[in-house]
Amino acid sequence: MGWAHRRRDHGGVIFVDLRDREGLVQIVFNPEFDIDTHKEAHKIRSEYVLAVRGKVRQRPADMENPELKTGQIEVMVEELEILNESRTPPFLIDSAAAEISETVRLKYRYLDLRRPDIQKKILLRSKAAAATREYFQKEGFIEVETPFLTKSTPEGARDYLGRVSQGMFYALPQSPQIFKQLLMVSGFDRYYQIVKCFRDEDLRADRQPEFTQIDIEMSFIDENDLIQIMEGFMAHLFKACLDVDLKLPLPRIPYHEAISRFGKDNPDVRFALEIRDLTDILKAADFKLFQEVAALGGVIKAIKIEDNRSLSRKDLDHLRDYVSDYGAKGLAWARINADGWTSPIAKFLKPEEIKNIEERMEAKADDLIVFVADTPRIVHDSLGNLRVYVAKKLGLIDPQAYAFTWITEFPLMEYSDTEKRFMSTHHPFTSPVLEDLDYLKTDPGKVRARAYDLVLNGSEIGGGSIRIHRKDVQAAIFETLGLDEEESRVKFGFLLDALEFGTPPHGGIAFGFDRLIMLMTGAESIRDVIAFPKTQKATCLLSEAPSQVSIEQLMELSLKIVQ
Ligand code: AMO
Ligand code: AMP
Repeated sequence: MGWAHRRRDHGGVIFVDLRDREGLVQIVFNPEFDIDTHKEAHKIRSEYVLAVRGKVRQRPADMENPELKTGQIEVMVEELEILNESRTPPFLIDSAAAEISETVRLKYRYLDLRRPDIQKKILLRSKAAAATREYFQKEGFIEVETPFLTKSTPEGARDYLGRVSQGMFYALPQSPQIFKQLLMVSGFDRYYQIVKCFRDEDLRADRQPEFTQIDIEMSFIDENDLIQIMEGFMAHLFKACLDVDLKLPLPRIPYHEAISRFGKDNPDVRFALEIRDLTDILKAADFKLFQEVAALGGVIKAIKIEDNRSLSRKDLDHLRDYVSDYGAKGLAWARINADGWTSPIAKFLKPEEIKNIEERMEAKADDLIVFVADTPRIVHDSLGNLRVYVAKKLGLIDPQAYAFTWITEFPLMEYSDTEKRFMSTHHPFTSPVLEDLDYLKTDPGKVRARAYDLVLNGSEIGGGSIRIHRKDVQAAIFETLGLDEEESRVKFGFLLDALEFGTPPHGGIAFGFDRLIMLMTGAESIRDVIAFPKTQKATCLLSEAPSQVSIEQLMELSLKIVQ
């Protein structure tokens, strides 16, 4: 797979130099060899993305090219797939730097980065970084990250307060998302970076305003390839750091199943307490509350707690208060005894219904069942959190366990009641599952995304997706999101441009490095695994940042503080 570097037609035979980051190889389309493939090959233009299959053969002696590493061979193509087309690039990819204006090179940097000359430099830089890490590690040095968000310091030069020109700002990146996609457009087909990211969001025990990702992007892959390689990474990491052997492959659970069984898309699967749906049984019971909830499209779900003696009546009141924080209006319960139920709702149920519930819950004597009836969101929120709370309270969690799950098949978009339109669940470049594309027009909420999260012990440690690499698919998504062309150009113009120049199929993932380390070390807070963390209020108690800057600094930036 790779990019069409050059095409030459010679007496009916088509020669294409196929390029990737390793170099070029000549591929040959001979009409006598395969007429259909040859016909298709006429469509190939510079920078089209191709997948070919064929026979490698020695070139005839007079056709060898000593200039080329692969100059003695060529590939006789049997199968050709044009993975993507490309607009005519603004310069030839084999031009020397001096032949192109620097302004054009920088505007189309993703194409500039396809030039072999610059790719070599970047590859060398990566090698140098790896060698540096290898060397200092061997010599006993310790790699520590220090904060980027800090205080104005007097060091002779001017602090970088985002100043370039008046009224214009740089933004600190939330992630390298767009740039790593552009690197794929440039042909660096496997990228990684250990990188600082910045996010101005509400902080919690597992969130920091500046944090570190292990960021990854790959070309010519699908979700299975990516997941497999990432599982290898996890296994390596856990073996090397903790001497823990992970059992691969890791389980995968589709999003809707995760919500329905665990109430969350970041389920903790170290313990059971699974949520079961009883709506079909209970909507028919002679209990007005359940009937009303079911009639309004709500659900009635329950979890089973083994050994009901561990929870007293007072504990049950406490659990009811706990779920009320998640919007539940009550918590019905039933203790299963050998001779029937002790339960405030038993009086509403026929023996047949009781039997059906016990069967569905796989309940036996001494078990306790707790029920919530409400909208699906409230039921899943309450029971999803209650499950974790009860597991902790009853000591059902093995502290040595590392339970991983991939969550797959996220919805691509969700309807926003406030915005009155569909919004991307992840970001608008996430690829839909292609067989769902027809729903874009009829029922957009049903379209699944080719997105995946990796969850460890109930914590989201990574997430990513296969991206859209084709303009027509991107346009259809924007249309459904209600973004017109003008608006999408202003927001993501340079990525959209890049899509038109032969973007390979690609996808990636980013792991939250701090969260991973937090879980690997059993730390309670993300602050325990960051050398210089911020508080829950995003302040640094050590340097007393953020702090005021001088009037002079503000004047230089033409800024005025309005209280
Ligand atoms: P996402 O936004 O899911 O994906 O982030 C990836 C992972 O980063 C971690 N993380 C955080 N860790 C600490 N503090 C925070 N404030 C914080 N926010 C996120 C989480 C999360 O799973 N560009 C995409 C990835 C991709 O699509 O390839 C991205 O950033 O563990
Ligand atoms: P009541 O008839 O009001 O005493 O309610 C019977 C039982 O149903 C009590 O245990 C309540 O806590 C419980 N309950 C009330 N509202 C809900 C609800 N939305 N979901 C589940 N149980 C509920």
